[in-house]
Amino acid sequence: MKKYVFGNPVKTGAVVKEVLESEDEISVFHLSEVQDGLEFSCRMGERDVVYGLGEQVRGINKRGFSYISYASDDPIHTENKHSLYGGHNFLILYRADAPDGKSFGVFVDDPGKVVFDVGETRRDLLLIRTGKDCVVYVTEGDSLKDLAKQFRELVGQSYIAPKWAFGYQQSRWGYLNESDVREVVENHRKHGIPLEAVYLDIDYMKDYKDFTVDEERFPDFQGFVEKMRREGVHLVPIIDAGVKIEKGYPVYEEGVRENYFCREENGENFVGAVWPGKVHFPDFLNAKARTWFGGKYRRLIEQGIDGFWNDMNEPAIFYSEKNLKKVLDEISSIKDDNLDLNDFFHMQEIVEGLCNHPEDYKSFYHDMDGVKVRHDKVHNLYGFYMTKAAAEAFDQIAPNQRILLFSRSSYIGMHRYGGIWTGDNESWWSHLLLSIQQMPSLNLCGILYTGSDLGGFGSDATEDLLLRWMAFAIFTPLMRNHAAAGTRRQEAYQFEAVESFRSLIRIRYALLPYLYSEYMKAALSDELYFRPVSFDYPKDRHAFFVEDQLMVGESIMIAPVYTQNAAGRYVYLPEEMLLVRMRSDKERTYQVLSKGHHYIDVSLKEAVFFVKKDHMLPFAVLEEDVRTTQDVSPERIVWIGFADKEAEYVLYEDDGVSKRYAPKEDWKTIRLKKEEMEGF
Ligand code: NOJ
Repeated sequence: MKKYVFGNPVKTGAVVKEVLESEDEISVFHLSEVQDGLEFSCRMGERDVVYGLGEQVRGINKRGFSYISYASDDPIHTENKHSLYGGHNFLILYRADAPDGKSFGVFVDDPGKVVFDVGETRRDLLLIRTGKDCVVYVTEGDSLKDLAKQFRELVGQSYIAPKWAFGYQQSRWGYLNESDVREVVENHRKHGIPLEAVYLDIDYMKDYKDFTVDEERFPDFQGFVEKMRREGVHLVPIIDAGVKIEKGYPVYEEGVRENYFCREENGENFVGAVWPGKVHFPDFLNAKARTWFGGKYRRLIEQGIDGFWNDMNEPAIFYSEKNLKKVLDEISSIKDDNLDLNDFFHMQEIVEGLCNHPEDYKSFYHDMDGVKVRHDKVHNLYGFYMTKAAAEAFDQIAPNQRILLFSRSSYIGMHRYGGIWTGDNESWWSHLLLSIQQMPSLNLCGILYTGSDLGGFGSDATEDLLLRWMAFAIFTPLMRNHAAAGTRRQEAYQFEAVESFRSLIRIRYALLPYLYSEYMKAALSDELYFRPVSFDYPKDRHAFFVEDQLMVGESIMIAPVYTQNAAGRYVYLPEEMLLVRMRSDKERTYQVLSKGHHYIDVSLKEAVFFVKKDHMLPFAVLEEDVRTTQDVSPERIVWIGFADKEAEYVLYEDDGVSKRYAPKEDWKTIRLKKEEMEGF
């Protein structure tokens, strides 16, 4: 790993490993100074492949577009979008023909805006534009898995969620009160659908004030949390970045008194607006402010809460007080005008431009422990440090307890403190595919605990879309059905096919011993849970261009169906594999398929996966009444496998709640003969 330092970079906290600064010039790139920054460029061969960049649109191979790391609250994830919620500046350039040198991984540690033009301007050019101050890490090598691992060792061990957070979770913006939550739980129980958690979106708060609970909606919050826990259900409240400006509200008052909020040039607290109207934004980049804000989670934890999601932390700003005034003044000045094309569109533009305005991000500052830094220069750290604030507080409050934590905005480094969900997608088939493609890219950047809003957040989900999404999401660590207020209800029990949903969710629980074991091994060994197919089959040229299949853990490959009205799909097998078709957690059929392309029928009721040659996996035998992960017994396992003679599997197990992770010596290597496995 080589480290190159340019200018005077801020310490982002992304990297944990000491690397000495290189004395050589950076060799894999041509470096030039451009306006306000640096440009790193290199040639790409026709068949070279670029992996990584985390949460972005488009495919697994990132070539053919440019991506901008600049955390953005943009709910329309269409393929023309350059930025989503995170800043994940790691990529691997895989040299297919190696005329221009070895493959390499590069991490650009610059928390401001970074542009990755991956062959958009010129097909054969990779261009990376950074600010003047940054640190660049480069590692060369031939093995994709090894390049990924070296990077992951640089940035440290990924966050580990409690085991219950691998169960099925239900969310919706619009569960207003106790009775709404109770109804969701009862319906899942009534239909025998396992359920682990129900999310509390902004409606649980009093007037959208962080760390408050609306007492009319939840008259006995603690009692209710306890009651739900007895039902096996965890309640997971949302925490927003903006703190409501309101006299008498302690979080606001303390923040003002102690100077914990982001301030403008002149020292006044910056005023933006989000759900509650006007807010101040805590200065998470300041250690004292972080400790203070993190401490606020304590009250909820004391009331029995053991999971949180941090939202709107790009930070999203509906408008700033100053810009709103400017725009309203301008609009009132044209009130009586006859607006022509230009005037009208200008008006529209300034109104729409109120949201997340770039000038607003330049108008406030952080006190990074004594150093004043303008927000836009460190923009991508905001969500990271909000999540770090929470995680560090959890370490104090409950040092040995795993608490579920994930965030919308993130930067590499945050993967040590929490996971992410992929934000406001839509109930579109294209977003099911997008979600499949985002998974390996996120894993490469260290983000292992992740998943998308299952069924889509915006728009109305249909039964078939939800079934297909579910059949994919049974493999994602975070399996959460979430939707926006005003959309069609999409809890599994809302549909005719409730039995099929039940089956699919039960399959997830049957797969838990495998999925959890694979997650833990990946996290503890700095490896990938989701991988592009080429990572396992680097000698296979076709494998590099597979965009809709993923390796999941060491034993299986998945090929989800993601098109409307499809009765199945084509699958590419890079070697002979065992197709496992699951109609329910009890009914399975097996078929050996040769290397190459196959059309696989997959009905809406089924989930399929493929076992690699000489591999096996544990599959739990479930009781009829399994309700939560606790009902999945590690003792009652069958082994599904595909081997000529025998196969081996390294099984990871632990208590799932404490931070006493099992050391490698305790991982159990299980070797079984073909006859001892279920399969073909
Ligand atoms: C935006 C988040 O992305 C979404 O998941 C949430 O439901 C809304 N904020 C409301 O809190």
